[in-house]
Amino acid sequence: MLNDIKFFLPTKVIFGKESIINNLSEVSKFGKTALVITGRRFARSTGLLDSVCNALKDIKMNFHLFEEVTPEPSIDDCAKAAHIGKICGADLIIAIGGGSAMDVAKAAAVLIRNEGKLQDYFGEEKFQNEPVPVIALPTTCGSGSEVTKYAVIIDNDANTKKTVSSEKIIPKMAILDPLVLNTLDGSLIAGTGMDALCHAIEGFLSKKANHLTRIFSRESTRLIGENIVKASDRSLEHAEKVFLGSLYAGFVINHTGTIFIHGMAYGLTIRYKIHHGKANALCLPYSLQFLKTHTYKEEVEEIEKILSIDSIFTMYKQMRLPLTLREVNVKEKDIPILAEMAVKGCERAFKNMKTTFSKNDFVEIFSMML
Ligand SMILES: [Fe+2]
Repeated sequence: MLNDIKFFLPTKVIFGKESIINNLSEVSKFGKTALVITGRRFARSTGLLDSVCNALKDIKMNFHLFEEVTPEPSIDDCAKAAHIGKICGADLIIAIGGGSAMDVAKAAAVLIRNEGKLQDYFGEEKFQNEPVPVIALPTTCGSGSEVTKYAVIIDNDANTKKTVSSEKIIPKMAILDPLVLNTLDGSLIAGTGMDALCHAIEGFLSKKANHLTRIFSRESTRLIGENIVKASDRSLEHAEKVFLGSLYAGFVINHTGTIFIHGMAYGLTIRYKIHHGKANALCLPYSLQFLKTHTYKEEVEEIEKILSIDSIFTMYKQMRLPLTLREVNVKEKDIPILAEMAVKGCERAFKNMKTTFSKNDFVEIFSMML
């Protein structure tokens, strides 16, 4: 029997080579003064930032730059970006980058129009005023943030990642130009692509999945599974397909959220500074093995028709991604701490699951990963 279907996509999505330059003039529909938010290196060193600035000059749009997004952005990063946005009177934000730049852009969009601190807005639909519109130009093939309602930010006081979640922060337009992947490091393609694969699979297993989101989950899993190894070897033809897979996985998690794999991986990122996608990647195959014997046998077998757990391990060897916790310097004595962090990090994820897991369950999974 089919579940009810709810699907909401307010983002105008444009995907294709040269799509940024050919379509950027459309941003003038959304505002008069843009704050361009990006990281410290990639957009500037590759010339992408210059191209965007030139296109904005061509349409006579006022704009200001914030080039200080850090890889795992904090509350302070968002406050700084919002401060600049307020000073320059930004009524539009253009995010160039991976998940971090888009997360900061969404958070700043909220803070520009709503008094108070970001901490006040963690959770679902916690702010009143309509944020400034966000236009997303993703430069990695992972987060799917260009079409999602989430801004995931590190709360250093709480020692975990927290999420601002609202349909009002879904970007108004997402322009995905696969040519931006040309200059991306192969290891980053592997890491971000695996993040997207986790989105597709976790979304498939979520209680909130429906027939339509599962179509996107299956296709995303196929696109990423078939192409990620060659994409990480810097083949643009294959990277383009992983990019599309990450977009589809964004459609999925926007509706389903993630399940415990993301929550479990937060500890690896916060405590051991392991890249978000690589941390998820490490947790994925072991978590699927655990799920197979804990309530999710049928669903995991369904995924394995497209991508088996064994082939995930093989992919990691081919991409030289770590297969064990030891390879990323996590010691056995650290497991109880990671398990504790996982319980905390999974608060939201458990709402998307048929069952919840205890600290002991996480100790078991992390021990398998050792
Ligand atoms: Fe993710």
